[in-house]
Amino acid sequence: MNPELAPGATQLKVDLRDRVAIVAGAGRGIGAAAARTLATAGAAVVCGARSLDELDALVKEIEKAGGEATGVCVDIADPDSVEGLVQAAVDQYGRLDLAFNNAGAHAEGPLHELTIEDFDRVVDVNLRGTFVCLKYEISAMLSSGGGAIVNTASVGGVIGEKFLSPYIASKHGIVGLTKAAALDYADRNIRVNCLAPGATRTRMLLDWLSNDETMEMIVGKTPIGRLADPQEIANVAVFLLSDAASFVTGATYLADGGLVVP
Ligand SMILES: NC(=O)c1ccc[n+]([C@@H]2O[C@H](COP(=O)([O-])OP(=O)(O)OC[C@H]3O[C@@H](n4cnc5c(N)ncnc54)[C@H](O)[C@@H]3O)[C@@H](O)[C@H]2O)c1
Repeated sequence: MNPELAPGATQLKVDLRDRVAIVAGAGRGIGAAAARTLATAGAAVVCGARSLDELDALVKEIEKAGGEATGVCVDIADPDSVEGLVQAAVDQYGRLDLAFNNAGAHAEGPLHELTIEDFDRVVDVNLRGTFVCLKYEISAMLSSGGGAIVNTASVGGVIGEKFLSPYIASKHGIVGLTKAAALDYADRNIRVNCLAPGATRTRMLLDWLSNDETMEMIVGKTPIGRLADPQEIANVAVFLLSDAASFVTGATYLADGGLVVP
């Protein structure tokens, strides 16, 4: 169900029939690929993004392929809006089983040139937003017997990178938050894991890589020697959400073409 799949990238196949999933940050890129994969696997998918326009084509594409999806306008930086996203899943489908917290923001520049507002904006979406998503998703999952959650961090959640200080700090925070949440609910049938993608061909990356030279530098640093297709990252998220990962919780999964070899 993904017409733009790069050569060599395949869509993961798992069985998620009767599951209800939220993808926060689903309008394009990694989140859209995950929403398609979850729907192909049989889940009903509540797709959240900042505008419904962004979600319209995705929801239609999933429905045309026989899947079930709903678009919800959400701003992850606004707790009421996040509560509304989770409530929309429960109202429409009666429960919540899976959640992929994937929305992300960044600000570039040497730290002393960034503003306090830059820092707050990035942290409000990436770290505070992930906390708020977890809070409402876990409450819903506890009512229906459990579930699985994946938070998108980045390779920047485990290593540093120049000129991205609020992003790096917030993504490191997501790794820690994931570990803490995983421990809080490990004995209540809720798994919480973290996905750490490397450079992936999406709008966010292409906006950031302003020229061919930066692109070559990033690809040159990646041992596999290319950018990831968003589908290759989404596959790891959906694996972690599926029962195939039933003994995995609190983990940070690198999907980075070998950039960070521990
Ligand atoms: N692309 C990469 O190279 C890369 C690498 C590492 C990590 N990541 C992370 O992966 C995630 C997805 O990135 P992508 O590259 O697919 O980005 P993208 O820009 O292509 O898509 C991001 C999606 O998130 C939504 N979004 C952004 N801010 C939001 C907000 N405040 N509320 C609700 N929705 C919001 C957008 O509307 C969009 O649908 C992000 O968390 C990003 O930090 C990306």
